[in-house]
Parts: sequence; structure tokens; C-alpha cells
Amino acid sequence: MAEILAVGEAMDRALALLEGGEVVAIPTETVYGLAGDATNGIGVARIFEAKGRPRFNPLIAHVADMAMAERIALFDPLSRKLAQAFWPGPLTLVLPQRPGNGIHPLVTAGLDTIALRMPRGFGGDLIGRLGRPLAAPSANSSGKISATTAQAVAADLGARIRLVVDGGATPVGLESTIVKAEGNTLRLLRPGGIAAEEIEAATGMALLRGGGAGVEAPGMLASHYAPGAAVRLNAETVGEGEALLAFGVRRAQGWQSATAFLNLSQTGDLREAASGLFAAMQELDRSGARTIAVEPIPFDGLGEAINDRLARAAAPRDKILPPT
Ligand code: TXA
Ligand code: MG
Repeated sequence: MAEILAVGEAMDRALALLEGGEVVAIPTETVYGLAGDATNGIGVARIFEAKGRPRFNPLIAHVADMAMAERIALFDPLSRKLAQAFWPGPLTLVLPQRPGNGIHPLVTAGLDTIALRMPRGFGGDLIGRLGRPLAAPSANSSGKISATTAQAVAADLGARIRLVVDGGATPVGLESTIVKAEGNTLRLLRPGGIAAEEIEAATGMALLRGGGAGVEAPGMLASHYAPGAAVRLNAETVGEGEALLAFGVRRAQGWQSATAFLNLSQTGDLREAASGLFAAMQELDRSGARTIAVEPIPFDGLGEAINDRLARAAAPRDKILPPT
């Protein structure tokens, strides 16, 4: 079983494991990541193995600072502006790779682009100490809900990894927003922890959505984030044997008969809802309900990413959706 160490006492152990080509689960501001040295093929292969992740699905490389980022990728002015505005933070930029950057090709699944992000907190410190980028997908078995606590990581991956660094519950609770500059336009490849409106405000540009020419976010499988129970969205009523995931003050009809009940935010606060979403889905799933009914959640701000994750949780388990 994986050892769980608090952030204050985990640095040396995490560094030693990463130097040895092992993987380590670490907290970031978004969700927990399963990190390996992005320049070490063995470390990167272990990430795919521990998650059971298909190898065609590329990983995000995490950096400590802008100098490291510029050694890995070629920044256009728009992407640099976004990095300045939102790094460190829950934004991932897809950029052309700088030739000879030392990133192992497994990280990018052979693409000539790379997804880069600068995390806040322990992850950033760890990368700075290691002096090399860390490849880190979310620390969950492929297709399952991302982990937002060290305990959730240990319950899922504990038998397959050596160390989980415990930084408490991750504050944002949703994965990073992924954006790609295409010429003079910006495309949203994955809604996430920074609302599209914030990016639009910082750049004065509207974000394009949907698959543009040549755009792919290979990891956007519909059944991602799937709990064991079925998920039913925009529930106005609660059916027999259903648990209810509520939002705000207006209740679905028959809510009193729900087999289990959680409210993402009594006050209708989307940030609060985002930070508790995955833990709430896991808790309702553990209640043994056949179906989790979910009340309607607005699409503005972080609501876009919340609705994206819920739609993936509700999708048929073998279907592939294009990126939103
Ligand atoms: O918040 C996050 O982003 C977390 C934390 C740990 O940093 N990481 C995360 O990684 O969510 P992961 O592997 O679960 O999701 C990365 C997504 C996948 O959908 C993948 O297909 C996409 O990024 N991706 C990676 N490289 C890409 C590229 N070059 N072009 C387009 N999409 C890419
Ligand atoms: Mg993931």
C-alpha cells in the first residue's frame, strides 16, 4: 500500500522516488496528479501503467517557472500573455514543442504539440527542486472520477504506487482549463478550473469551441469521470431508488424520497459546487444508489466545466464524444 505523507514532510521522499523513475501522487490546486519525470521514459510508462491509461492519450507536462516552460515549448505572444495572466494556476496551454526539449515522446503520444501547465503549491516546489518537468495526469484509474483528496487517491491507486503526498482537499476541484492558440484565435479544448469568461476578459477575445481543423484532445472520452451508478442530468423529479445531487435552493420534486442527498452549494455558488463535485459524486456512488439524479446547474462561469464533467459521467460508457 502507498505511504501517505503530509506536504510538510514529503519533499525528500518524493524527490528520491522521482529520481529513481518512480511515480508519486501529488496535490495541485485543481485535482491530485500522478507525477513522473517527463524526461524519463520508465517514469512516464509507469504513469500509464498505474492508471491503465491508453497510450494514445497524451499527458500534461508541469513546469516550475517560465524559463522551464520556454525550454520545452514555443510560445506565441497570445499564449505568453495567458501564461503571464494565469500561471501558476489552473490553465493548460497546448503549444508546439521546441525540438530537442528532452521530453519523452510517450508524454505527448507522438504529437508535435505539448500541453503545459504551471501548478501552484507543492507541485511547483517539487518541480523546482527536481529541476525537470513532471508529467502528471489526474491521479485516478483511467475513466474514473478524478481524485480531490489523498484518501481518494489511495483508495483507487494505493496498491499500485509507493507514495501519496497529502495536501488536503484540492481547492479548485476540477481539472485545468485547456486552451490552444491557433493563429490569431483561441480555442477552448477542455473547460476547467478557470472560467472561459475570465480568459476572454484577460485577452479581449472570444474563445472558440468545438473541434477546429486538426484539433484533438484525445483524452476527452465521453465516459470519463464515470461513477458506478448511472447518472441522470437536469432532474426535475426524483425517481424510485435514486440518489439526488442538488444545487441551490429550488428542489426537484420528490426530493424527500431520494435514497441519499447532497447539495453542491446551498447558495448556488459555482466555485463551491466545483470544489465539491467529485467528492460528492463518489459519496453518492458509495451509497449504493442505482442512479444519481442531478438537478440543473447553470452554464455560466465554472458551470460550463461542471456541466461538461456531469455530461461525461452520464454518457454511455463506451461512447466517444468530441472535445467540448
Ligand atoms: O488540472 C489538471 O489538468 C490535472 C492536474 C493533475 O494537473 N491534470 C489532468 O491531466 O487533468 P489529464 O491527463 O487527466 O488530462 C489531460 C488532458 C487530456 O484530455 C489530454 O488528451 C489532453 O489534456 N492533452 C494532453 N496533451 C495534449 C495535446 N498536445 N493536445 C491536445 N490535448 C492534449
Ligand atoms: Mg484525467
